[in-house]
Amino acid sequence: MSTRTGEGSHLAQARASSNGTDNTALYKDWATSYNADLPADVYIAPTLTAKAALKFDSSAKGSILDAGCGTGLVAEVLAKGGAQSIDGLDLSPAMLTEAGKTGVYQKLFLGDLTRPVDITDERYDIVTCAGTFTHGHVGPSPALREFVRIVKTDGIIVATIIDSLWESGGFKREIETLEAEGLVKVVSADIIDYVQARGDHAVLIVLEKLSPSVQEQQHKMQSKPAVLPAGQPLLRVRA
Ligand SMILES: C[S@@+](CC[C@H](N)C(=O)[O-])C[C@H]1O[C@@H](n2cnc3c(N)ncnc32)[C@H](O)[C@@H]1O
Repeated sequence: MSTRTGEGSHLAQARASSNGTDNTALYKDWATSYNADLPADVYIAPTLTAKAALKFDSSAKGSILDAGCGTGLVAEVLAKGGAQSIDGLDLSPAMLTEAGKTGVYQKLFLGDLTRPVDITDERYDIVTCAGTFTHGHVGPSPALREFVRIVKTDGIIVATIIDSLWESGGFKREIETLEAEGLVKVVSADIIDYVQARGDHAVLIVLEKLSPSVQEQQHKMQSKPAVLPAGQPLLRVRA
């Protein structure tokens, strides 16, 4: 028997999908039942992502891009925390339609995070990205570097990365590279529960974009990348 998050579910199909065409078809079919399948007490990544962003921006005045916004679960928590300037980007028109129903986004637009995005440099204070760095979805490059490009100096990037891809998918290496180039500081990288019914975990990263002067100093000082936690023991575990 399949459950809402078990074998045969849309979630299992998402894990098995391998490209953007698969994803567009999957999310077209899943969009209207997605929120019911993944309530906040089961799929807690959006809540933790939004809360991490709000911790950084306690006045909630910053402009935010919710990348891979889906139906808007991250933005709803951001809006409850007072955020008023949230844009959403997603590959799936059907998910964007659902996101529009939340009424919390200023702008929603189609975008493909596996390619450079059509957004000007230093456009946002914060980029959030929950549930999108996962199997068959979006890899670390160019997405992470694009997030750094479109975020303002001293702005932050908050993203979840499914833990099974943290190292094998090249995420850890890409973040170390960005850090070694002096582009970002790793504020935190914590293991979190992800989809609780499945016992899944993810790494929740918070990256701060460094100012050009700090970048220069950092670059001079670092002869090799700072090493993020590898294998076990890894990171702090958050309930
Ligand atoms: C598991 S959902 C997460 C949605 C939302 N952030 C959340 O946490 O509920 C993954 C989202 O990534 C989007 N997605 C998949 N591939 C993408 C791509 N190449 N570019 C942008 N979004 C993509 C899907 O359409 C879907 O909305």
